[in-house]
Amino acid sequence: MPKVAPSILAADFTRLKDEIESVQSADYLHFDVMDGMFVENISFGFPVLGAVRKATEMTLDVHLMVQSPARYVERFAKSGGDIITFHVEAESKENTIKAIAGLHALGKKAGLTIKPNTPVDAVLPYIDTLDLILVMTVEPGYGGQKFMSNMLEKVTCLRDIIDNKNLKCEIEVDGGINLETAKKCVKAGANVLVAGEDIFGATDRAAHIKKLQSL
Ligand code: DX5
Ligand code: ZN
Repeated sequence: MPKVAPSILAADFTRLKDEIESVQSADYLHFDVMDGMFVENISFGFPVLGAVRKATEMTLDVHLMVQSPARYVERFAKSGGDIITFHVEAESKENTIKAIAGLHALGKKAGLTIKPNTPVDAVLPYIDTLDLILVMTVEPGYGGQKFMSNMLEKVTCLRDIIDNKNLKCEIEVDGGINLETAKKCVKAGANVLVAGEDIFGATDRAAHIKKLQSL
């Protein structure tokens, strides 16, 4: 049974607390940070994360789409993030190793993520130390885009590696996830499904989350 992580990028920010409550049966709450540098778009950062932390006890799954993220991982952890995932393309090898260790020292989970054009190889040097790998299934930056089905091969490949090495590392997918694409991702080996518009656009969000969790 996969875990489900609603992305609050698709929520109504004028009523964020109610929006979060409406998805509380999910496993994680996905929090997309965009800096206008690593990706074109700008979303939200520390003050909003702090407020979300006060509003819920859900596990906060922070996805950093920012340049040189090692500068910020500790602050996102201290602002309430439980799992902090950053882009392998955005940081040096040395800083990536330090950031992962720093998160673990704070008792947090550490994840790395890859954009559609980045091969799986990019995360392999760190795989033994990771709690989560996020395979982007759209180009990061905006919600509501179309799922890229050729990303499924990456999920299959990672699932093989993780199982062969007997690691606990989770495989998350993000972008264009709905019941149909989620099914394919789970079949390929993903165990955490991020969904923005699909969940927040559903008439019965709790029922929809249950359907995704039952795939
Ligand atoms: C995209 C973000 C996603 C986004 C997903 O850059 O990382 O988390 O919110 O939105 P949907 O599910 O609507 O494609
Ligand atoms: Zn995301």
